[in-house]
Amino acid sequence: MSVDAKRGSSRFPGFYKLDITERLETLDRYVPLSAEEKYILRHEGLTIERADQMVENVIGQFTLPLGVALNLRINKRDYVVPMAVEEASVVAAASHVAKLVREHGEIRTESTEPVMCGQIQLLDCEDAKAAAEAIENQADRILALANEQDRVLVEHDGGARELSARAIDTDAGPMVIVSLYVDVRDAMGANAVNTMAEAVAPLIEEIGGGRVSLRILTNLADRRLARARLSVLPQAFSGDEWDGTQVVRGIAEAWAFAAADPHRAATHNKGVMNGIDAVVLATGNDWRAVEAGCHAYAARNGRYEPLSRWWCDEKGSLCGELEAPMAVGLIGGATRVHPTARIALKILGVSSARELAEVTVAVGLVQNLAALRSLVTEGIQKGHMVLHARNVAISAGAVGDLAIRVAKQMVREGRIRFDRAAELAKHMVHEVQEKTQDLRGGLHPKRDRPDRKD
Ligand code: MEV
Repeated sequence: MSVDAKRGSSRFPGFYKLDITERLETLDRYVPLSAEEKYILRHEGLTIERADQMVENVIGQFTLPLGVALNLRINKRDYVVPMAVEEASVVAAASHVAKLVREHGEIRTESTEPVMCGQIQLLDCEDAKAAAEAIENQADRILALANEQDRVLVEHDGGARELSARAIDTDAGPMVIVSLYVDVRDAMGANAVNTMAEAVAPLIEEIGGGRVSLRILTNLADRRLARARLSVLPQAFSGDEWDGTQVVRGIAEAWAFAAADPHRAATHNKGVMNGIDAVVLATGNDWRAVEAGCHAYAARNGRYEPLSRWWCDEKGSLCGELEAPMAVGLIGGATRVHPTARIALKILGVSSARELAEVTVAVGLVQNLAALRSLVTEGIQKGHMVLHARNVAISAGAVGDLAIRVAKQMVREGRIRFDRAAELAKHMVHEVQEKTQDLRGGLHPKRDRPDRKD
């Protein structure tokens, strides 16, 4: 799959006002979707039969809304980014800030080679340091054995590349930890790495003279990093109520708060992960692996820190960067098995796992910016309240336009409650019925006959 230059702009003004059929038609002009794909998106992401093949004891499916973040322009290329998320306002916030950045700034990304690491734990060696040295001396033999496990990966220029071994002291005594570095190309890589780690374990026991226990990849994928950088002029944030320069300063101050305080850093990173997780999930990737990697990376300096950094440059522009381990793939796992994930990858149009990783961190950075911008201006509740109120209205039985009218009324009243939603919905429906009857009555051919006496 490669990005089709003909796809053009990811700006679809007024997309949010369209109904779902119209949105699919609009998207279809950007990337042609088959009737089956549209059916899958609208009706049946995952059949129960397919679900039953994926995990055990299946009793149903658990579905989430799939939205698309628009307006993203990364490395001068447009992307429509599918996001699976249950939280209202995440997709809208990403799209809105992406629009501001494309109009007043830019986003650049880069990434390392997709190298994952398998860890092999060797215990009961007579001399752990000597065992580690012996293992490193025979690295070529071990790497060759590892590469025999995955010919296809090697043919695609991937495979085990490097090995290191170190002796560590632990509560359970000394042990040797062997790290096997594998370029996994377009896979997430867990299967390839774990297979190799298991396969080389007997050879490591033979060379090190001990007993292997754990053979598993690390989710702290710090050799598989993706970076996004963004700069945007202050006028992007200027409006009737806000001065852009103050907003930029506020965002830099918000970052300083997160950098100094792990309690804030956790929430700051939650805002980053709102974007990252939604893309990881939509594309069928292992979001627990990415979460584990990101949070471990945030604590790599011995203290939990924000994953991103925000500052104001000498020209007054807001600059931000985000670097995170990004173990995402285009093959394996649910990426090909889950029909919606397949379609999401098609819409996204990335041609490699690295590109997917880069787009994902770019969305994380934009999402983070959207949250910080709200926090330093009007606060997040204003926007959230209408969406929250709409959900309350829906849960009280209101649908479509009615849900929005009920939600707006509840926000006006400052009373967002299930019982009030039900009451308002009933009242509004009643009002509409009465008006309809009046209207019908008004047009009633017999009742309104001019000669009618009664
Ligand atoms: C809410 O989902 C995310 C935020 O709390 C992030 C942040 O505080 O930066 C708004």
